[in-house]
Amino acid sequence: MSVGRGSRIAGTGSHVPERVLTNRELEQMVDTSDQWITERTGIKERRVASAEEASSDLALEASRQALAAAGLGATELDMIVVGTITPDMQLPACAAVLHKKLGAKDIPAFDVSAACAGFIYSLSIADQFIRTGLCSSVLVVGVEMLSKVTNWQDRNTCVLFGDGAGAVVLVPAEDGSGRVLSSKLYTDSSQVDSLCIPAGGSREPLTVASLQAQRNKVHMVGSDVFKVAVRNLTSASRSALAEAALGPQDVDWVVPHQANLRIINQVAQRLKIPLERFILNIDRYGNTSSASIPLALDEGVRDGRIRRGHTVLMCALGAGFSWASALVRM
Ligand code: ACO
Repeated sequence: MSVGRGSRIAGTGSHVPERVLTNRELEQMVDTSDQWITERTGIKERRVASAEEASSDLALEASRQALAAAGLGATELDMIVVGTITPDMQLPACAAVLHKKLGAKDIPAFDVSAACAGFIYSLSIADQFIRTGLCSSVLVVGVEMLSKVTNWQDRNTCVLFGDGAGAVVLVPAEDGSGRVLSSKLYTDSSQVDSLCIPAGGSREPLTVASLQAQRNKVHMVGSDVFKVAVRNLTSASRSALAEAALGPQDVDWVVPHQANLRIINQVAQRLKIPLERFILNIDRYGNTSSASIPLALDEGVRDGRIRRGHTVLMCALGAGFSWASALVRM
């Protein structure tokens, strides 16, 4: 769909906690090995927040960087959209806390809960608001503090996740400039229990028993997610390309959700895009859910790999299963 003028990314930013947790340290915590984690996932280390840090703290730093890169102040924003499943509190939205910290005006600020697809969902929503002319500058954030919803005794999940934040500022695209070319959003709920945090919501409010059983932490049947991820990330990427009437050969960089290097490898093969054209940082940050794409995007922009005019393909899949893709001309 291409109503109105469209939007472009005017600035990017990212931030991760200082503390590095290596695979070697995890060997001391659960029955695992650096070799297993590296071979099965590609992850070598991840960042873990301190007890005092909350998601909005990471989001604030990433947002400040993105605003500075866009040459905008927080009071010039028309909307704040935050993709996250780990807000500071159940209520209010992480976006509202971020809004306060940034000192934004009385603008809409809300969270989008789409797990690892949260950033692309948020980007797509922001893009629609700019296309319709309702907004002129939107801060889009992906932030996650999965370390605080991880069961550190469960080797099936605790070796996978990390904390971080990434942000972009979207503004109206001018003639001849870059723009969000297409975005595709999906959910297939047939395996909704394969990846979830069972307790802490209205279905199963927290009790002492559920806390002791760690039912307020991420539960995942990893192999279920793996197969669906390869299939759906590939088809969503193809759909985003088809909508923009482009092919894999037109893509300068792929910025995929960084959940597992083997998933990314298989998607690369199916799309026939060499892995050298993928921005990868899973070895250093692990799976940071909705933060992973804006984190990698910012890294690629700041180190000069992603440049103005480049075509960037993004794709992500997470709990739900919800998945998404976006094609952006920088
Ligand atoms: N160390 C050592 N052994 C382990 C570990 C570990 N950390 N974790 C699991 N194992 C064992 C299992 O117990 C199993 O042993 P068994 O054969 O004796 O039963 C064996 O390793 C193989 O387990 P699998 O789960 O089949 O391993 P797989 O190759 O599928 O890799 C992984 C697991 C890495 C989780 C993979 O399935 C994966 O990446 N899945 C997708 C994750 C994802 O994309 N999640 C979506 C986003 S997350 C979100 O939305 C918050």
